[in-house]
Amino acid sequence: MISQLQTLQGDIISLDVDAIVNAANSSLLGGGGVDGAIHRAAGPELLAECRMLNGCRTGEAKITKGHRLKAKHIIHTVGPVWNGGRNGEADKLRACYTNSLRLAAEHGLQSIAFPCISTGVYRFPADQAAEIAVDATQTFLETPCSIQRVIFCCFSAADRARYEALIDGKKMDG
Ligand code: APR
Repeated sequence: MISQLQTLQGDIISLDVDAIVNAANSSLLGGGGVDGAIHRAAGPELLAECRMLNGCRTGEAKITKGHRLKAKHIIHTVGPVWNGGRNGEADKLRACYTNSLRLAAEHGLQSIAFPCISTGVYRFPADQAAEIAVDATQTFLETPCSIQRVIFCCFSAADRARYEALIDGKKMDG
């Protein structure tokens, strides 16, 4: 099955996909940024479901229902806090993408949207984060699975341009 990578600029909570990914913290009990927006839009039932999950380690991912969102599921992953780059931040960010995609595939999901994990409050440099996101996703999709569409949902035009350049560049390579 051929999978497609797409970019969008906008608010991830509005997307009608099988799963949106949340850039959460290890408590899984909400926060600011995209995490706060998702919890506000999904409603208190999401927090109640998250309380049952016993948190999540950096780089790992857990799935819940989408509750009041259009998205059927939310995949919560915890990105690394940027600390200069010598504390395994790149590998941990890669694991966020790979583990989220694996969870989506295990549930037979076809469409998934990611925010720019770790690039807000957690301060991961945006260029490097985008490279890791696209590379990890393309590598994962080399093995056939249920996923047909991956959307990189960027809040800023600058982030979207980064992803577009990377995806176009890879098309030209291939
Ligand atoms: N839709 C899409 N992207 C968004 C949205 C939204 N509604 N809101 C914010 N973003 C973007 C930010 O612009 C940034 O590019 O998501 C990216 C990630 O930023 P953060 O939400 O700050 O996430 P992160 O850097 O991974 O930090 C995680 O923030 O509040 C929390 O609980 C969360 O403690 C955790 C930390």
